[in-house]
Amino acid sequence: MKMWAGRFKKDVDTRVNDFNSSISFDCRMYREDITGSIAHATMLGECGIIPKEDSEKIITALRGILADLDSGALEIDPEAEDIHMFVEEVLTSRIGDAGKRLHTARSRNDQVALDIRMYLMGQIEEIKVLVLDLLEVIAKKAKLHAADVMPGYTHLQRAQPVTFGHYILAYASMLMRDYDRICDTKRRTNVMPLGSGALASTTYPICRERVAELLGFDSVTENSIDGVSDRDFVLELAFDLSTLMMHMSRFSEEIILWCSSEYGFCDLDDAYSTGSSIMPQKKNPDVAELVRGKTGRVYGSLTTLLTMMKSLPLAYNKDMQEDKEVIFDAIDNTKIALEVFTKMFDTMTVRSEVLRRAASKGFINATDCADYMVKKGLPFRSAYKIVGQLVGYCTDNGKTLEELTLDEYRALSDIFDEDVYAAIDLDTCVNGRSVRGGPAAASVARQISLVEDFITKAKTE
Ligand code: ARG
Repeated sequence: MKMWAGRFKKDVDTRVNDFNSSISFDCRMYREDITGSIAHATMLGECGIIPKEDSEKIITALRGILADLDSGALEIDPEAEDIHMFVEEVLTSRIGDAGKRLHTARSRNDQVALDIRMYLMGQIEEIKVLVLDLLEVIAKKAKLHAADVMPGYTHLQRAQPVTFGHYILAYASMLMRDYDRICDTKRRTNVMPLGSGALASTTYPICRERVAELLGFDSVTENSIDGVSDRDFVLELAFDLSTLMMHMSRFSEEIILWCSSEYGFCDLDDAYSTGSSIMPQKKNPDVAELVRGKTGRVYGSLTTLLTMMKSLPLAYNKDMQEDKEVIFDAIDNTKIALEVFTKMFDTMTVRSEVLRRAASKGFINATDCADYMVKKGLPFRSAYKIVGQLVGYCTDNGKTLEELTLDEYRALSDIFDEDVYAAIDLDTCVNGRSVRGGPAAASVARQISLVEDFITKAKTE
C-alpha cells in the first residue's frame, strides 16, 4: 500500500507503478535525502513542532539508515516509489510513530528540490577538481613546448605561425571560463528551498534559516512557489557541462587530426588508444572520438531539460522528475570524459620537428613578409599585393618564400634586402608577436603563470 493510499480505493496499476517510480535513479541521492531529513528533524525538534524525544529518535534512526545504506547492510527497495518514500518507510518501520512525524511541515516537492540542489553542489565540487587537473596538464605541456613553432590555421588552412604552447593555452582559457561558470552556477544552486512545502509553504512555525545553517546553505529561497518549481540551476549546469564538453570536443578533434599520418604532429600513448580488429596497422584515437561523441549526448541533456520545463505551469509537476536521469547522465559522462581526456593528453607525445616542418610550408610567413615591407615605409595594402605576387611566383616555381633569391625578391620590389630572410624566419615571426596574448615566448610565459595562479587560487578557495 502506498503511503498516500488514504483517498484511493484501488491499488495502483503495476505498470503505472513502474512508470511513476523514480527509485532506480533518485536512489543516488540517498545521502542528501537523509542529511536533509536530519536537518529538518533537528529544526522541528528545536522549534517545538515535534517532541524533542521524537526528533532525537528520528535523527539517530536516520543516521543508522545512512550507515546501513553506506555499508550495504540495507538495500534500496526497487519497488519503492522514490528515495524520499523509501527512507521514510524504513524509518517508520524502525522507530514507529516517531518516524511518522518526520514529514511534518514538509512536502516531497520541497524535499526533492533540496536533494537535487545538494547533490549537484557536491558534483560541482568533483567536476571543479577534474577541470583543474586538466588545466595543470595543459600548463605543464605548454611550458615544455613553449618554443615549438607550429602552423596556426584559419579555415583549416595554414595561416600564421604560433607555438604549440600558445596553441594549447587557448584551451586553458576556455577551461578557466568553464570553471568560473560552474562556480557561478553553484552560487545559484546554493539556496535552500525547504519550507516551500508543496507550494504554499506551511502554517508551522518552522525556522528555515536554521535548516540552511545546518546544511551549510548560503541563503534560503524567497518565494515558496518558485522554491518548488525552479530548476534553473539544473539547466545552468547542463549548459555549463555542454560548453565544457564542446571545448573538449574541439580539442579532441584537433588531437584526432594531429595523430593522423596526414598530420603526424602527435602520438598517443598505447594505453590511450585502441587497435582495429581487422587492420593490424591501426592505432585509433577512440578516447578523443568518444569525448567528441559524448558531447552530443550532454547537449541532449540540455535540450531535454529545456523542453521538459517549457510551458510547465506553476508549481510542481511530475514532468520535473525527468530532470534527474539526464543531469546525472551529463555529469557522469563529463566526469569520465575529463578524467580520461586529461590522462590521454598528458601522455601524448608531440613531434616538435614535424610541427616546425609543417610551419615552414604553406607561406605561413607571408604576413610577416608584408609587414617587413611596411616597416620599410610601404603602405600595408601595397605590400600585401606584392607578397601576393611573390606567393603566386613561388607556387608556379615550386619554391617557398625562404627559398627565393634576393634577385627574385627585387624583381618585384627594390625595397627588399638581405635582411628579409631574418624577417621571415619562423622564430622571428613568432617572437615578434610579443603583445599581450600573443605567441612570443614572453607572452606564453605570462599566460602559463596566469593559469598557474588560477589553479593555486582555485585550490585555496
Ligand atoms: N520523485 C519526485 C521527483 O523526482 C519527487 C517529488 C514527488 N512529488 C509529488 N508530488 N509527486 O520529482
